[in-house]
This record gives sequence, structure tokens and C-alpha cells, in this order.
Amino acid sequence: MEVFDAIVIGSGAAGLMFANELAKTWDVLILTKEKLEESNTKYAQGGIAAALSIDDDYQKHINDTLRVGAGLCNIEAVKILVYEAPARIRDLMIFGVEFDKREDNTLLFTREGGHSCWRVLHVGDMTGLAIEEKLIQTVRKNKRIKIVEHIFVKDLIVHNGICYGVIVLNEKTGEIKPLFAKTVFLATGGCGQIFLRTSNPSLATGDGIAMVARVGGRLENMEFVQFHPTVFYKPPSPMFLISEAVRGEGGILIDDDGNRIMETHKDKDLAPRDIVSRTIYMIMQKKNLECVYLDTKNIDEEYFKTRFPFIYQKCLENGVDPTKEPIPVVPAAHYLCGGVKTDIDGKTDIISLYAGGEVACTGVHGANRLASNSLLESVVFAYRAAVNADRYLRYLPQIWFNKLNEIPIDKFLPKGNKEPDLNLINELKLKLKNIMWKYCGIVRSNQGLKKGLQLINSLFEEYNKNFSDSK
Ligand code: FAD
Ligand code: SIN
Repeated sequence: MEVFDAIVIGSGAAGLMFANELAKTWDVLILTKEKLEESNTKYAQGGIAAALSIDDDYQKHINDTLRVGAGLCNIEAVKILVYEAPARIRDLMIFGVEFDKREDNTLLFTREGGHSCWRVLHVGDMTGLAIEEKLIQTVRKNKRIKIVEHIFVKDLIVHNGICYGVIVLNEKTGEIKPLFAKTVFLATGGCGQIFLRTSNPSLATGDGIAMVARVGGRLENMEFVQFHPTVFYKPPSPMFLISEAVRGEGGILIDDDGNRIMETHKDKDLAPRDIVSRTIYMIMQKKNLECVYLDTKNIDEEYFKTRFPFIYQKCLENGVDPTKEPIPVVPAAHYLCGGVKTDIDGKTDIISLYAGGEVACTGVHGANRLASNSLLESVVFAYRAAVNADRYLRYLPQIWFNKLNEIPIDKFLPKGNKEPDLNLINELKLKLKNIMWKYCGIVRSNQGLKKGLQLINSLFEEYNKNFSDSK
């Protein structure tokens, strides 16, 4: 039986960072359900935070993270995030990421909501793409890393509290089979797609969270979903993010009458994200509006085009010239602050299973994430997980291999092979998105949550009735 040293599920910043580090000494298999570059990471715009500017220091970054997290952050994890940021930024630069610089060749910082100073490193408005591309180039060069694309990881093989690998579905052939590994790193990203409105690409369906929940692993802070205040709105156009950095550079939120929405908050348009999203939501409810607007008239037209080339182009493609007219925006689900509970070394409560990036909950974000701390969390904690996994692999006892042979593998494979009815699945998914948006969205009540749960339970029954013996 083939046993890999490590399987990495997902090819965003977390998965690739982990693979790069661990493959210095071990063989790593990366499994990813779409093309290698497809990830939330690829779409990240604003940037990556690190206390590197001369006006900044570690304590300020720590304080901002704690304040925005509304008192619910894990302080030890926050300190690690902030202290280890410079080293991981240096790694990214060694991999080839060219962060924007000033004319004198020093790093150029931008500002986003909740930051008390200019702290966010960026590559135009396509920071995630720049990071993803360089990480991919680095993993592709490493002979110890094998990559399989278009392979869907369905489940974790967990027996008596130990993870021995994964069950995969080959999306091209339909074949389902187990793959065994001494360690598994879960890096499947978030779950924005369970909401009707989201900034996330279609792959963000929370698969990793579901896999861990099914085997009884511990999840934490799942109620803390972050809603980004400004996602482009013009149905039926697709939704895409309008970076908070646009407000950092002078954009202001206005309602349909041109009134400034964040006028009364001390930080104005750069107040923490949860506050801005809730304020917009309340105004939309009160005035019965479909959207509000982001006015960029304070930003020089030519500067806007060069600073935000992606946003400029996407707006034009969707019939809005952002340098001439306000951009229609709405809040939408953006980021899962909670997830699979891990310690500061990426360990979950399942032996041999590590998690990192958005799927994980290290506790750094508390109830609300500070902008641009997510790419940072992905690289900092994936790196730490790889260092810890290296030690774990060095001391893996023989008993692990004996136990591997005792796994009742049939238990993990589907019973029947009825083809699932995709139309019905899509119908159920849409119902779920509507329920989540309506009852578990930006503003929630006990009564609404109970109603939402009741509706989700009925959906679950409908699902079980139709799909219990499907592939
Ligand atoms: P992802 O990058 O989401 O990667 C997950 C990977 O897992 C993908 O490759 C996916 O295909 C794979 N996968 C998922 N399920 C399976 C499965 N069942 N089987 C196999 N493979 C699977 N954060 C910042 O810090 N700064 C920003 O500027 C920023 N901007 C953002 C802009 C947008 C539009 C969005 C959506 C998010 C933004 N974020 C930003 C958040 C940040 O991008 C993500 O939190 C971060 O990239 C997550 O990285 P990750 O590696 O954990 O997961
Ligand atoms: C943005 O560019 O507004 C997104 C930043 C983030 O999610 O951290």
C-alpha cells in the first residue's frame, strides 16, 4: 500500500506555503479540486499586513488586531502572527513577490479599515494573484512535491482519533478511492458560498469544515462570519470585491441621496468592517435600498486607474466607470473567522491532522478579522504547521503503521453508486444560500436563527431522502 509522507488538501496560500516548507525534507502530495491556482488567495486584493513601516510597531499591529476582534482573540496567537510576519514576508519576497515600492525603492504601504497606520503591503489590487503565482512557481520547482488537480477530497480517513489519509473523487473519471498519508494538512479555505451574496469564488464551499465535522473534530467560532462592506452590485452581473483599500485611498460611502454613511463614526469609512457592514445594512433596510454607493471622486482619476487596475477594468466591464460615477455596492459574506480548531502549530484535535489558512481557527481573528490579516495568517501558521509536522514525521512510531492495516476502509467508501441528480443538488444549494442570507446574515436574532435552523433541518431531510446512497 502506498503511504505518502504528507497530503495537502488545497492550493491557496496556506496549502502551498506548507508544501514548500515540508518538502524541504519530505515527499508531499498536493490535491486540489480545480486548477492549481484556483483559490480565494488568487482573488485577494487589498494586501498583506505586517508592522514594517517606520510609523508602525508590533504593539500597534497587536492592538489593532485585538480591538477589531472585539475582545475575543487568542492573544498568544495574535503575538505570533505579528512577530513572525516580517520573516514570512521576507520568504514571499525571496519566492519572487514584488510588493509595490516608492520611488526610493522602499516598501509602499496602504491603509484599510481598523488599522491605526499605513501597514498593508500590496501588489496593485491583485496582491493575492502575485503571491499565488510565486508560490506556485516555487512548488513546481520542487521535485519532492507532486500535484494532482481536479481531484475532490470527499472525506478524511479518521479511525480512533487518528487521521490516516483521505477519500478522493477523481472529477474526470468518477473513480472514488482512498489515499493514505502519515500527515494531512487541511487548507481548503472558507465557506462564503453558503450565503446568497458573497465575495468568494465558487470553490469556497466549506468542504474542509464539513469533513472535520463529519469525523467529530472540533470546530470553533463558526458564528463569526465577516461580511465585507463593498461588493459590486448590479444584478445580474457577477459579484466581485471592491477593495477596502479604495476607501483607504480616499473613497467614501454614500447613500442614494449622496449622504455620507460613516459620517458619525470616529474612523469614518475606515471603521472596522463589521461596523461598516452593519451600518450599510441598517440604512438599506430603513430606506428600502437595493445598494449603496462608493464614491471615488476624492481619488485622482489617473491614480485610480494605475492603483486599482483590476477593479477599474471589472467595473467598466459591468457598465460602471468608477472614475466618473459612484460604484453600486452591498455587503456580502467574505471570510470565516472561525473554523477547525487548531493550536499555534496548526495541530487539530485529530492526531496527524493539521489545518491552516481560512479553514482553521487559530483564534487570531476573534469575532472579526482585521483587514489583510488573513493572507498573513495563512502563511505564518502554515509555515509553523510544516515545522511541527516535520518533527512529528521524524518520530512517527511503528505502531502507526500497524494500526494503518487495521482500518475498516469500506466504512469510508460510498455504499451505492447511484449518480447524484445535479439539478436537485443545485436547487437545494440555492435554498440553503437563501436561508443563510436571510436568517444567519449580517444582523441576526434568536428567533431568526431558530427559524433558519428549522429550515436547514428540513433541507437536510430532503437531502438524505434523495442522496443517502449516492457516490
Ligand atoms: P484558499 O486560498 O481559499 O484555497 C483553498 C484551496 O482548497 C483551493 O485551492 C480549493 O480549490 C481547495 N479545495 C477546497 N475544497 C477542496 C476539496 N474538497 N478537495 C480538494 N481541494 C479543495 N485576505 C487578506 O489578507 N488580504 C486581502 O487583500 C484579501 N482580499 C480578499 C479578496 C477576496 C475577493 C476574497 C474572496 C478574499 C480575500 N481575502 C483577503 C481573504 C483571503 O484571500 C483568504 O482568506 C485566504 O486567501 C485563504 O487562503 P487559504 O489558503 O486558506 O484558502
Ligand atoms: C480588501 O481588499 O478589501 C479585502 C482585504 C481583506 O479581506 O483582508
